[in-house]
Amino acid sequence: MSRVTSRDIPDKLVIEPMREGDIPQVLEIEREAFSAAWSEGAYRRELRWNRLARYLVLKEKPDVAQVSGAGDVPRNGGLGARLFSFLKRNPPATTSNNLVRGYTGQWLMVDESHLLTIALHHELRRRGLGEALLIAAIDQAVEAGARIMTLEVRVSNLAAQAMYEKFGFWRVGLRPKYYTDNDEDAVIMTSDILASASFQSRLQRLKEESQKKVGVLWSR
Ligand SMILES: CC(C)(COP(=O)(O)OP(=O)(O)OC[C@H]1O[C@@H](n2cnc3c(N)ncnc32)[C@H](O)[C@@H]1OP(=O)(O)O)[C@@H](O)C(=O)NCCC(=O)NCCS
Repeated sequence: MSRVTSRDIPDKLVIEPMREGDIPQVLEIEREAFSAAWSEGAYRRELRWNRLARYLVLKEKPDVAQVSGAGDVPRNGGLGARLFSFLKRNPPATTSNNLVRGYTGQWLMVDESHLLTIALHHELRRRGLGEALLIAAIDQAVEAGARIMTLEVRVSNLAAQAMYEKFGFWRVGLRPKYYTDNDEDAVIMTSDILASASFQSRLQRLKEESQKKVGVLWSR
């Protein structure tokens, strides 16, 4: 996986459903982000068998110019014909050519979404990309008819709690010693009714700000 070195927001970011081919890159982020990381098998089972599960990845698309054979564009014919012929010989990058920069997952249960995970590549944090992923997850929950979104977060994870609070989530309780790696308590947080006017107007404002800031495309 190529290193992210710039403090800038990468170009050509897209959010799309996670596929099995993404799992190795997801695990790299997972192992850095969480002290109790999920295994490859757990992700495979989720993607293959869990009908309640919805996982999204934030990907950086490589430049067409970086795809192999890009220098070999025919010189005759119109631009469209040349592009068509080029793409035919050099199909667009498959999922494995794209760089996974973050991911999120939820279970959609009857009328409730349970946000299971969200993580960003550590060198890309604090640029609004976690927020872009959360927006996509909320949109997905709303489209599936979820009434509310709930989640657990470590008591010590103030960064994530601040992000959820920005979206209007509030604390509804504690699960003592929920995290078995260090017996840490979990804060249970829940959203307002997702379809409510107050939640939607806040979401709309955050979406507009996010579009201006990071301009991530969500391809459903
Ligand atoms: C939580 C996480 C996904 C946030 O992603 P991010 O891209 O860094 O967050 P964003 O830049 O989109 O920030 C969104 C908001 O979150 C809050 N926030 C994020 N990082 C923060 C930090 N280090 N300190 C305080 N607030 C923070 C802020 O409210 C921020 O809004 P602002 O920029 O207007 O201040 C990221 O920190 C991460 O991957 N952490 C490790 C995995 C993890 O803890 N996941 C949550 C499990 S419940």
